[in-house]
Amino acid sequence: MKFSYSSVVTAAIALLPVVSAQVNSSEWNAAYAKAKSTLALLNLSDKVSLATGYCTGNIPTIPAINFTGLCLEDSALGVKDTDYSSAFPAGINVAATFNRTLMRQRGVAMGQEFRGKGVNIQLGPMMNFMRAPASGRAWEGFGGDPYLSGEGAFETITGIQSQGVQAVAKHFIDYEQEHSRMSSSSNVDDRLQHEIYLHPFLRSVQANVAAVMCSYINGTYACENNATLNGLLKYELAFQGCKLNGWFRYDDWTATPSTTSANDGLDMTMPGDIFPGSIVSWFGESLVLAVQLGTVPESRVDDMATRILAGWYLLGQEQGYPPVNFDSKDPLSSVNQHVNVQGDHASLIRTIGAASTVLLKNENNALPLNKPKTIGIIGNDAGPNPLGPNICIAKGCDIGILGMGWGSGTANYPYLITPLDAITNRSSLDGTQVYSSLDDFDLDAAADTASGKDVAFVFITADSGEGSLTVEGNAGDRNNLQAWHSGDALVEKVASVNNNTIVVVNTVGPIVVEAWIDNPNVTGLVWSGLPGEEAGNSLIDILYGAYNPSGRLPYTIGKSIDDYAAQINTSIPIGILEIPYSEGLFIDYRHFDEANITPRYEYGFGLSYTTFSYSDLIVSGSVSGAAPGPSYGFGSSLDPSLHAPVVFVNFTLTNTGNIAGHETPQLYISLPASSQSPPYILKGFDSVFINPGESREVSMELSQYDLSIWNVVTQRWEVPSGTIGVTVGASSRDHRLTGVIG
Ligand code: BGC
Repeated sequence: MKFSYSSVVTAAIALLPVVSAQVNSSEWNAAYAKAKSTLALLNLSDKVSLATGYCTGNIPTIPAINFTGLCLEDSALGVKDTDYSSAFPAGINVAATFNRTLMRQRGVAMGQEFRGKGVNIQLGPMMNFMRAPASGRAWEGFGGDPYLSGEGAFETITGIQSQGVQAVAKHFIDYEQEHSRMSSSSNVDDRLQHEIYLHPFLRSVQANVAAVMCSYINGTYACENNATLNGLLKYELAFQGCKLNGWFRYDDWTATPSTTSANDGLDMTMPGDIFPGSIVSWFGESLVLAVQLGTVPESRVDDMATRILAGWYLLGQEQGYPPVNFDSKDPLSSVNQHVNVQGDHASLIRTIGAASTVLLKNENNALPLNKPKTIGIIGNDAGPNPLGPNICIAKGCDIGILGMGWGSGTANYPYLITPLDAITNRSSLDGTQVYSSLDDFDLDAAADTASGKDVAFVFITADSGEGSLTVEGNAGDRNNLQAWHSGDALVEKVASVNNNTIVVVNTVGPIVVEAWIDNPNVTGLVWSGLPGEEAGNSLIDILYGAYNPSGRLPYTIGKSIDDYAAQINTSIPIGILEIPYSEGLFIDYRHFDEANITPRYEYGFGLSYTTFSYSDLIVSGSVSGAAPGPSYGFGSSLDPSLHAPVVFVNFTLTNTGNIAGHETPQLYISLPASSQSPPYILKGFDSVFINPGESREVSMELSQYDLSIWNVVTQRWEVPSGTIGVTVGASSRDHRLTGVIG
């Protein structure tokens, strides 16, 4: 099988068949001490049982050591398959906030809910990339840039684990499309792997993530990939926690790991059976036998058990952890105590929904609304699913307001506020009459509803999800970047009769808006993404100006799908589908910049109801002549000297308009041409609240790692020689201040 990972790395890894846990962090120290003393009390079967789940997401108890077992549950946006829990905004939306505080708070709130249900391990966050714009599960993650994805991962994990819940960084690594996900090989070179795809996992390890879930095939089974599991994760990143495999529950049992995956660094197999319903496991008694036959050393089993116990101790789960009080497979079972874990999370969800809404077009001050007399609301996405928001299995349908995509990355809605209800309620304060037409295909009704109204809102969608389900002909990945349900025709019809047409988009990723975006009757475009249960309320906060828009695009909206560097590989292979990541470092805006393609809306773009000016850039500090990072070795990519701040970027933001709000400044660096890097690379952002007429000084820091590229020959991080440019601005193309690192 092909696997183009650097031969240098592969050679180094050959010396590392097993990377036993080596503690190098104070946080893990105490956990390891406890785990090791507990280990001494276990026999081989006990140790193996720690590594094997026989029912979906459960590790059995070991009474001898008061180990109460482990409950593992999806998803990255809320507790799946239960009731009285919240449906948070998706990862792609929290990314659009560009706001670390909100990312952290969402993690904290999710952690509280998982803990409240007795879940030990939350199967999230998900940090795979929107490499191809139609990628089915990209909405679960943080978009098309490694820096933003890394910050999203770090804050989410820190938040979740602050509540004593173990987080799982998934899916390790190079899992960026659904088509053939069980039988494809993502072929990624060493520099690309380090500079793009590994980065969020590095930030996860820096956040002390307890567990990592491997992805699918990367030249060899990802769960048996010595180079990535042992080499990158456990050696180079010095990951201390437990590595569990991705679930292989979709009948594709050939993708299941083998018993000897243990030798390649896999620590836990889930859900435990070899194929759905089988009573045999690759681990379990098979692993006991493998140890007895000598094909897996018992020291490896000790290491697996230590890592799993250490995660349990690290999060303090040995004391006072709530027992599981729901049954994900049977909500009516007597196990389900219907514990309400929602707390006051609705208001956070509403805030994140608003803060992640990206205002893309606003002509003639169409927004915020100013007491319109009449509003027309058009489109199925404005209303409810008549059968309820949870009626479709794993949310695999696009009926009514779209608050999340489909698949394992979902959760039940406790309720779902529709735009129609929210606008109707809010408009009663102004005495506004609201008219609606929710049939996407009834263009005459749409025109009737829009005609003669002060403002007409058209709601359109695009959906995607896990490849296990096909929805409206889309087998996980989207077939194209068009709005679903002939959304373009709906917008064009409404705009033909109303010169104040505002389009609201609920979508998993970019859609092409060229058919109508330049139509002068389309005065507004509001990108609402996947906002979760408070969808309608978040939206009215933007529409009526209760929240001044500050969301920014976490991906580029191109004029055509062909403008993007990478596409879903839809070939039907004989055997393994090869997916060459041949665009290299040039994904998303990096490609648009490099190839000089004008996007419709660039990465990082979003409007506000006020205006901001940027001034007084000061770049201090230096990396010129910096010694290269440590040579490839245990923990080398996490070496503190690499990550200490060395360059300081300060500038001033002033709110030059009349409305208070957040500005979202972004810092991009430009490495010397000799480094063959993208023209602009995101390395800093903030979300800064400023009152009208006031100024705020903003500081950002850059480390040697931030300014380095991965040298595939020397196998270390090195600052390229030459001048490094610094750009601060309001998007990846709206450069307001420029300087250089001295
Ligand atoms: C998915 C994971 C998920 C797991 C458990 C796998 O197929 O890829 O994201 O956490 O199933 O449902």
